Amino acid sequence: MKVYDVIIAGATGMVGRKMIQVLEERKFPVGKLLPMASAHSVGKKVIFNGKEWTVQELNEENIKQSHAAIALFSAGGSVSKEFAPVCTKYGITVIDNSSAWRMDANVPLVVPEVNRKKIFSGSKIIANPNCSTIQMVVVLKPLHDHYKIKRVVVSTYQSVTGAGQKGHDQLMKEWNREKVENPKFPYQISFNAIPHIDEFLETGYTKEEMKMVNETRKIMGDNSIEVSPTCVRIPTVGGHSESVNIEFEKQFDLKDVREILSKAPGVVVQDKPTEKLYPMPVWAHDKDETFVGRIRRDESVKNGLNLWIVSDNIRKGAATNAVQIAEEWIKGA
Ligand SMILES: NC(=O)c1ccc[n+]([C@@H]2O[C@H](COP(=O)([O-])OP(=O)(O)OC[C@H]3O[C@@H](n4cnc5c(N)ncnc54)[C@H](OP(=O)(O)O)[C@@H]3O)[C@@H](O)[C@H]2O)c1
Repeated sequence: MKVYDVIIAGATGMVGRKMIQVLEERKFPVGKLLPMASAHSVGKKVIFNGKEWTVQELNEENIKQSHAAIALFSAGGSVSKEFAPVCTKYGITVIDNSSAWRMDANVPLVVPEVNRKKIFSGSKIIANPNCSTIQMVVVLKPLHDHYKIKRVVVSTYQSVTGAGQKGHDQLMKEWNREKVENPKFPYQISFNAIPHIDEFLETGYTKEEMKMVNETRKIMGDNSIEVSPTCVRIPTVGGHSESVNIEFEKQFDLKDVREILSKAPGVVVQDKPTEKLYPMPVWAHDKDETFVGRIRRDESVKNGLNLWIVSDNIRKGAATNAVQIAEEWIKGA
């Protein structure tokens, strides 16, 4: 069997560690694993397929010497901006988890269940969308194909793990009543809800919110879809939750909507409210699927639908989606 040498850029981080775990779980044909991170992590070990692999510094020399086929990046936007082109210079295909390349017109933005073909557009950099966008579009796409979406109003309830290791650690320290040095969030996150993720823009929206608007249109390949987002950080760890209100052009039948969603790839319908069955982060935690429930008609508008969508942001929102792209990439067009 053909094997591929794989760089993990950001191997010590929350997403990087999960990417290594997912590569192993899904039996991705890795030859050499090349974990890389900042200079301060050099020499740390990661375990993959029962073997120890030593973390190297992410720099041009190590990239050149790696002779890798693929690099999975999760080390932040500025690192991707600098080192993704270094990888492509040495013939390495990059799958990037940061926001650095997502809206570049020459870079495909891919969720395999939605737009797999874009992987083969000729770009050596392939972007992985924002976590909140990924879980929304896997559910929206099959509905859009049937009923054409006009407008989406989404409110997110996002896990602290979306802010990386430091976000997770802040919540744990607050719960343990330990002192938090350099807090990741602008306020305490325990017992709180903070309507502020990423930077504010002049319009009053945050960059996180605008990612949901622009990335949804790019992935779905339809700029006519209107998206009105509010992104909120809450003290959970298992995944992001979203209340999603959709207005369709065409009429729909709720029974058909359930049928369509139950057949959609990567989607699991959890919708028996009378039996207290609806998606929650504690159930979605460490799962690869996106869960949808509370499926009901919005009676205040023509052709309106309400959904509740939950998925593990570190898995489908980051690591799993990136590994799925790599799996499709090796299969070819
Ligand atoms: N968390 C999520 O839900 C999520 C979802 C989708 C996308 N992402 C994206 O994935 C990326 C990483 O997120 P994360 O949650 O894993 O953050 P994290 O836990 O803070 O990890 C950051 C990683 O980046 C490495 N790094 C930082 N500066 C570096 C540098 N100058 N050179 C090389 N490596 C460097 C760190 O290495 P050291 O340990 O050596 O500092 C660490 O491995 C971000 O771009 C984020 O936007 C995150």
